[in-house]
Amino acid sequence: MSDEDVKYGLAGILADDTAISKVMPEINSLTYRGYKVQDLASECRFEETAYLIWNGELPTQGQLDAFNAHEKRERGLSGDLQNVMSLFNKNAHPMDTLRTAISFLGQEDDTANDSSPEALYDKAIRMYAKIPEIVAGTFRLRNGKEPIAPTEDLAFSENFFHMCFGEVPAPEVIKCFDISMTLYAEHSFNASTFTARTIASSMSDIYSAVTGAVGSLKGPLHGGANEAVMHMLEEVGSPDNARAWMLDALATKKKIMGFGHRVYRSGDSRVPTMTDAFNKMVDVIGSEEAKSYWEMSRILDETMVAEKGIYPNLDFPAGPAYYLMGFEIPMFTPIFVVSRITGWTAHVMEQLGNNKLIRPLSNYTGSAQRNVTPIGER
Ligand code: COA
Repeated sequence: MSDEDVKYGLAGILADDTAISKVMPEINSLTYRGYKVQDLASECRFEETAYLIWNGELPTQGQLDAFNAHEKRERGLSGDLQNVMSLFNKNAHPMDTLRTAISFLGQEDDTANDSSPEALYDKAIRMYAKIPEIVAGTFRLRNGKEPIAPTEDLAFSENFFHMCFGEVPAPEVIKCFDISMTLYAEHSFNASTFTARTIASSMSDIYSAVTGAVGSLKGPLHGGANEAVMHMLEEVGSPDNARAWMLDALATKKKIMGFGHRVYRSGDSRVPTMTDAFNKMVDVIGSEEAKSYWEMSRILDETMVAEKGIYPNLDFPAGPAYYLMGFEIPMFTPIFVVSRITGWTAHVMEQLGNNKLIRPLSNYTGSAQRNVTPIGER
């Protein structure tokens, strides 16, 4: 075995089969269970997409009603978890506290190790129902406010805003958020999903798989990029500065957050839909700040594509969209988890449906074999 045999970053390696989503970089397309994501985003609520990802088919109205009722029954956190959350370090990143809270959910579940398909499905819905409350509660606690309990009267996205802000915003804002949920839900063997599958492959439990996936998603080369994009826009400051900022960043070989993708090389299929939703929301908000972030984004995108031929990924429009919805920057990646819990858990189920322990080989580059000398002779 030599260096040439090593596929660094597993780039280009087919690691397993999947029937959940298909990334088609040659035509900039992404489908969930055969449906184009942009069609799902425009035609369906996120709940329908979540049902599709887990069940393989879009729901009938009756199936959707039963699914939503199941999710609503699972809303609400135990008193113990609420107590633990109140003890979290207010300065900790919410991805770190979310990781701990999901791990806590696992140890609360006496049947955590039951990996039958029915049990996995129930646990997936449990996390899908409870993670929004954990994220919203963290948001409030970090800002010295009491968490707000979920309400059964509201649908998934509306309930999330209610738990964060105590009110539901304009329909265009909800639509933009709901679209982002659909677009973030699933993306084949990305780093966090592969982490979840790797953990599941040792026959560990689904909560452990999701806890590990949260750790993976946190990184700025993966989910953390939506936060990094917003920090970048704050640094750029104004549309007038955007082109010069980008040229300078490229000249000094900076990595520009929200651009590039391991699989898509000529554009991320999710970007036009998210950009359009962001644009509509900017119109509804109508503030100078909103227009300025829109214009800055447009110029940065145009300059990067013209100068380097590197296209924006979903995090590029999602970051400022979440900011304009009123979320503080460290909440962006946890919001990604509110959606991606669907994809991760579907992959855990798929992995366990035809499991083989994930255990690649390594190309050893250390010392040649040698003898141990007793400590006094070293
Ligand atoms: N800014 C500047 N240059 C970039 C870039 C970016 N965001 N993304 C890729 N490039 C350049 C690299 O510098 C490299 O140039 P070189 O060949 O001159 O060295 C070339 O494009 C290939 O990039 P590489 O890092 O090898 O691609 P990858 O497949 O390993 O990386 C990412 C993919 C996503 C990790 C990378 O594009 C990145 O770091 N993007 C920013 C973070 C981000 O937005 N992540 C979210 C992904 S959805």
